[in-house]
Amino acid sequence: MSENTEVTITPLVDGPLEVKGLSRVTDCSGNIIEESQRAYLCRCGASNKKPFCDGSHKRVGFTASD
Ligand code: FES
Repeated sequence: MSENTEVTITPLVDGPLEVKGLSRVTDCSGNIIEESQRAYLCRCGASNKKPFCDGSHKRVGFTASD
């Protein structure tokens, strides 16, 4: 049996980074903080649930050029 290990990271328009295909997100000490096949990572800096997006980018009017 083969396991799909491909990971794609897509910046959403004026929003978070969508990460597909990951198995886990860890903190800087290596502790697992999320295990999922999909995650949304904050890139606006306003989330109260970093590193994950909590929708705050809409409240702060985050815009990105890419
Ligand atoms: S990108 Fe959504 S809260 Fe930062």
